[in-house]
Amino acid sequence: MVLFFDLKAQYLSLKLEVDAAIGRVLEGGRFILGDEVAAFESEFAGYLGANHVVSVGSGTEALHLSLLACGVGSGDEVITVSHTATATVAAIAASGARPVFVDVDPDTYNIDAALIEEKITDKTRAIVPVHLYGRAADMSPIMEIARRRGLKVIEDACQAHGAYHAGARVGTIGDAGCFSFYPTKNLGAYGDGGAIATNDPLLYERLRMLRVYGWKERDDAEMSGYNSRLDELQAAVLRVKLRYLDQWNRKRVELASIYDGLLDSAPLVLPNKSDDASHVYHLYVVRSDKRDRLRAFLQENGIGTMVHYTTPVHLQPAYVSLAVPNSLPNTEKLVEEILSLPLYPELGHDSVEHVASLIKRFYKTAS
Ligand SMILES: Cc1ncc(COP(=O)(O)O)c(C=O)c1O
Repeated sequence: MVLFFDLKAQYLSLKLEVDAAIGRVLEGGRFILGDEVAAFESEFAGYLGANHVVSVGSGTEALHLSLLACGVGSGDEVITVSHTATATVAAIAASGARPVFVDVDPDTYNIDAALIEEKITDKTRAIVPVHLYGRAADMSPIMEIARRRGLKVIEDACQAHGAYHAGARVGTIGDAGCFSFYPTKNLGAYGDGGAIATNDPLLYERLRMLRVYGWKERDDAEMSGYNSRLDELQAAVLRVKLRYLDQWNRKRVELASIYDGLLDSAPLVLPNKSDDASHVYHLYVVRSDKRDRLRAFLQENGIGTMVHYTTPVHLQPAYVSLAVPNSLPNTEKLVEEILSLPLYPELGHDSVEHVASLIKRFYKTAS
């Protein structure tokens, strides 16, 4: 049996350090916006090479508050993809802006930068590229378009902690970069959590206010704000895990290259790589025109797989009114073919080899 996720294995490998960090917080008696949060923000900013990090309650809230801090609101339009987690689009909708979808590149599964300009109107305020599955989006043309057209760029780096684009960590290239610490992410907490990286001092100040009732100082709200805070326990856990992130990402890359080598001759499309855009394999996603049968076969043989995502956001009931017929052909085709195979740092080489050999066996018998 090969599980799709195994968070217990990771915990057991760090048990002493994690338990000590949690114990330190419990004994310290401070649980909200204390030293652990401040230290994590500074350590994560150092890791990313960003001037500032503001931690918040989740990746969705990181996106929502970033949009608000950039001045996006009702009557505005924000360009993004439909081939993403619902959260990307939910955050845009929560800001009051209208999400406008651009199709994805059929090779990278990320926003097709060549299709962005035709979607820009006089209402467009921002672009939200998603570094989906851990593969950096093609940021150079996106930044060029945004700067020329006066648009903000808010990177959805919720699946791509540690990935690089052209030498910079993703999340530090646009005006703001948003991260999720959902437990299964490459850097995951033991509950919800999120953060925003930014080099812009004004955005930094606004984000710090937005996450705590709009307060500039205690009981002195300068804007209408929210309650969206990473708590001290999660920050303490994340400080431990951050020290392992690069090592874990290297392990993910190593396992991905084993899959790549073993599946090279199988009739599957394997994840795309490029020199400019690194991949940290939050998910190892293949494409198969026999996806459902392959998935059932793997399940019968004890292999956990998932589909990210089964329904593009523009076809989900809450957002169908935003759908423009026939405008997202790659997005709509991908959802029928994609399959996420098990891949996480604790997975053994033997498990990867077992999954790959089952896939090859499936194709030998499949007609
Ligand atoms: C691409 C993407 N964007 C946004 C989010 C939202 O993050 P969270 O679940 O922490 O709100 C996620 C994670 O679920 C994600 O994968």
